[in-house]
Amino acid sequence: MANKWLRVKQLKCSFRIQFRRSCSSQPKSFKSIPGLSSIPVLGSLHHFLPVIGTIGIQKNFFNMLGVLHEKYGSIVKMEGILARANMVILYKPEHFDQVYRAEDTNPLRPGFDSLVYYRTVLRKSTYNGVYGLTTAQDEKWRHFRTKVNPALLKPKLVKLYAPALDEIAKEMVDRLIKLNGKGDYLQKNLDLEMTKWALESIALVGLGNRLGCMEDNLKQDHPGRQLIQCARDMMELAYKLEFFPSLWQKYSTKNFKKLVKTYDLQWDVSKMYIDEAKRQINERGHDIPEEDKSILEKLLSIDENVALMMANEMLMAGIDTVAFSTTGVLYHLAINPEVQKKAREEARSAEPQKRYIRACIKESLRIYPVIPANLRRTGKDHIVAGYHIPKGIDVIAPNEFLSKLDKYYPRAKEFIPERWLVEKTHPLYYGNAHPMITLPFGFGIRSCIGRRIAEMEIETFLRKFLDKVEVGWEGPPIEVETKVMNLFVKPYRFKFKSI
Ligand code: HEM
Repeated sequence: MANKWLRVKQLKCSFRIQFRRSCSSQPKSFKSIPGLSSIPVLGSLHHFLPVIGTIGIQKNFFNMLGVLHEKYGSIVKMEGILARANMVILYKPEHFDQVYRAEDTNPLRPGFDSLVYYRTVLRKSTYNGVYGLTTAQDEKWRHFRTKVNPALLKPKLVKLYAPALDEIAKEMVDRLIKLNGKGDYLQKNLDLEMTKWALESIALVGLGNRLGCMEDNLKQDHPGRQLIQCARDMMELAYKLEFFPSLWQKYSTKNFKKLVKTYDLQWDVSKMYIDEAKRQINERGHDIPEEDKSILEKLLSIDENVALMMANEMLMAGIDTVAFSTTGVLYHLAINPEVQKKAREEARSAEPQKRYIRACIKESLRIYPVIPANLRRTGKDHIVAGYHIPKGIDVIAPNEFLSKLDKYYPRAKEFIPERWLVEKTHPLYYGNAHPMITLPFGFGIRSCIGRRIAEMEIETFLRKFLDKVEVGWEGPPIEVETKVMNLFVKPYRFKFKSI
């Protein structure tokens, strides 16, 4: 009897110990993650106000991430700003790697809430359930992406556009040489000229047509010029509406009305171009070699609605991204004459693989990525660094910030394309950094679908440019501001010299 009693006591005791143990290994709550406190309606927004805010207004996202990291450490919470989801910034690559990989079967990337609302509610009948890659989630996104992946990502298919892109790059270089003689025009308008080239290139790959954007005296109401303006306005207005206090979700504010007009115009103009391309395709028939088919033509044979939406998104996402990235490489070449010389030698050589120029592009995107941070919304619970991150949280990977830390890349702030080319044993070898640190095109199955096209456009342009032009920079270093994406602050102090 005494034995039995002793056994029960032992069992109770061991249960208590086990229970305590499991309690002590319980993850800490999401609420307890260090970070910005929140107040009703504004969430954490008051911290970013000038003077009274603890963080204050920061020029760009990179600086803001630095301030937050210094104040709160390697895992930082920001509670829902206005209607946005709660966010957590993970500064350790192992941590966001863990979440991003676990979410890669169904990667949710929220953003552009106004465009989602526009396509799914305001203009529901136009879009008819086909919401494109930028706004669709879940099964709708997966269906769409599966259909378009082969046409946009297969290296062999993408290479087919090389000769046509070559022609456009050549025209652009001649145009830069010509405009260089026009006083300070390029100091103020280089971004406009670069976007004209980027649009002309993506339209050729996407639709198979030239738009004539690089002609002299292009009128403000030229449809190509309108598309460029729409892409820029969408960025600026969405930034104002979605990152600052605004009641657009409750009623139509002035900026929201402007944004809807911009979305309408972007759709109408791109549709006009797409319809024209379709008409030409139908007129000449489909019996032509694969290399002469545009992406639109390839997709039309799979799904007409998907083809239309993909072409529309190419004319939206393929302009400022490519223009900014190319300007970034030009800047780095300008301030690193030795690198420029080496790249020029390669551009002029008969070697078909331009490995050094490609390394210049990678290195420039490491330092100046278009998108300063990546984002995934959790579709399930995670335990990260001992904290509970529930479903529905936006997990931010601060890639630009991490890419500029010496901890990951030796001499991280310097432009050293060689780090992408040296042997594994070399201290500069890029592979010594965690593979999730530098992700200019995003991550996994939801990464940028325009990547191969963008890389080819930029490489083609640089080859032509380096052959004909020497570039320098006079004045203080270029600055970056963030409005959804990174943008260079004017003036552009490039010195172009025809050679
Ligand atoms: C250097 C130029 C470019 C850069 C740096 C860039 C960067 C990015 C990034 C970071 C993402 C988010 C990926 C993620 O969440 O994992 C993205 C998505 C996307 N990009 Fe690009 N992009 C570029 C050019 C282009 C071009 C030329 C196109 C046109 C085809 C394009 C179309 C898209 C689309 C449609 C998405 C959404 C993909 C999806 O959600 O499935 N991008 N891009």
